[in-house]
Amino acid sequence: MPQHSTIATETLDRVGIIRLNRPEKKNALTAQMYEALIAALQQAEADPQIRVLLIAGSDEVFSAGNDIVDFLANPPLDDQAPVMRLLALLTELRKPLVAAVCGPAVGIGTTLLLHCDLVACGERTTFAMPFVNLGLCAEGGSSLLLAQRVGSARANEWLLLGEPITAAQAATAGLVNVVLPNAEVFAHALDWAKRLASKPPRALQGTRALIRHASAAAARQAISSEGALFRELLQSEEAKEAFAAFVERRKPDFSRC
Ligand code: COA
Repeated sequence: MPQHSTIATETLDRVGIIRLNRPEKKNALTAQMYEALIAALQQAEADPQIRVLLIAGSDEVFSAGNDIVDFLANPPLDDQAPVMRLLALLTELRKPLVAAVCGPAVGIGTTLLLHCDLVACGERTTFAMPFVNLGLCAEGGSSLLLAQRVGSARANEWLLLGEPITAAQAATAGLVNVVLPNAEVFAHALDWAKRLASKPPRALQGTRALIRHASAAAARQAISSEGALFRELLQSEEAKEAFAAFVERRKPDFSRC
């Protein structure tokens, strides 16, 4: 697997481990990091020594989502933008994807979990999908996959209000499989991954594909539709005000929008 300073990779007992590694910016994801993630996932999918993928942040933070500054400098222009290609790839993975999540998981830091098969999170983890609050819309297939995972009542609440979700709420709703002390999260997820890696791979991948079969094409369509509106909204006065407020560390004012 390729090495990259903000995306660290290693292989352990047939598990391909991908770590988000930009702690100074809370693992906010830039276009360059999306490219590195795509390369790491593609290489792991093609590597016969790897049977399971494990994605993690640090013990303090999973990801603050899209890097807002980079997003303004390198906005996704079409379905070929790095973030869009990563999301499409997530819907096409054959190998199981396990996640270890500690600390904040914001925006795509939460929506990418909808593409994971097993998710362990820390007691202090908070999730949030604040797209509307940023003048944007649901992404990552969340307009479809979130309601499938946690029910439409919670999906409405989480996507429209965009407020933080506690680890306990996420577990009750079924967004995550287990909540543990932060220090135990990575080891637990790695143990899952190793157990999966010891199973017959065709049976494992086949069962995974069957579970996902009914929603895979619809998820790709949702990602594409979301992307089109997301790009449009990115140019809006609402998003400009929300992003300026983030950079200036103030509350946004949407009264003139
Ligand atoms: N894009 C760009 N920079 C980000 C970022 C993001 N999404 N999230 C955090 N950062 C930067 C901060 O600007 C800060 O940079 P600085 O030290 O140069 O000032 C640094 O990361 C640390 O962030 P800070 O907010 O001080 O950390 P925190 O522990 O208090 O809070 C979060 C962590 C994740 C809760 C908070 O940073 C946050 O809410 N980030 C924005 C999340 C978001 O809206 N994402 C977009 C979703 S589409």
